[in-house]
Amino acid sequence: MDPAIAIVPMGLGHLRQVLDLGHEVFDITAKPYTSWSLTSVAEHLDSPDNACWIALDSDRVVGFVLGSMEFEHRDDWAYLEWIAVSPDMQGHGIARRLVDVCSEALFARGAKRIVTDVENRNAASSALMTRSGFTPAATVTLFVRPNPTEPEPDPDEALPAVAPGTKRALIRRGRLAGEGRGAR
Ligand SMILES: CC(C)(COP(=O)(O)OP(=O)(O)OC[C@H]1O[C@@H](n2cnc3c(N)ncnc32)[C@H](O)[C@@H]1OP(=O)(O)O)[C@@H](O)C(=O)NCCC(=O)NCCS
Repeated sequence: MDPAIAIVPMGLGHLRQVLDLGHEVFDITAKPYTSWSLTSVAEHLDSPDNACWIALDSDRVVGFVLGSMEFEHRDDWAYLEWIAVSPDMQGHGIARRLVDVCSEALFARGAKRIVTDVENRNAASSALMTRSGFTPAATVTLFVRPNPTEPEPDPDEALPAVAPGTKRALIRRGRLAGEGRGAR
């Protein structure tokens, strides 16, 4: 753990750096329903029950976690939706500190469970969540059926990203319910 890195609540003044760091590190092609955008960050900050924290190295944002008490139709479950650490600061326990402070805030607000989802090739995120006390509860596989009239897709071609806010909309409509049943 690096004591020089302070973990503080996220404010509006951190928005630009948080957005840029997310664009730098999130692989939005891994899960095509996942979108990272100003909307996703602003929705969190706008929510009165948000649990958003940043890791600061002086005045540079080197990590963040965005969580809230909003998870599908369960008022007593919380959602840790986004977490990231700058590539040059990874491996120093910063994400563990962010998960802990976010989780403590959500439990203190009455969350019975905290849910998060991890793409199965994301080894760093899986290790982080496992070490932070999360256990796998359900797995959803994204099945894709190509249009036979379209040319054969290039297997290396990235799946298209979807519009900002779509992931949250899908969650609200229950399309991702399989991922959410039981703490992920
Ligand atoms: C996932 C991520 C936030 C981890 O940040 P980090 O600050 O490097 O993580 P930490 O140093 O706190 O490590 C947490 C634990 O995970 C382990 N870990 C971290 N990266 C790992 C890797 N690549 N492979 C295996 N284990 C890893 C650490 O050893 C540590 O375990 P320990 O506490 O037993 O030592 C960072 O890799 C990242 O920003 N990735 C890109 C964004 C992303 O995928 N976010 C998740 C989806 S929202």
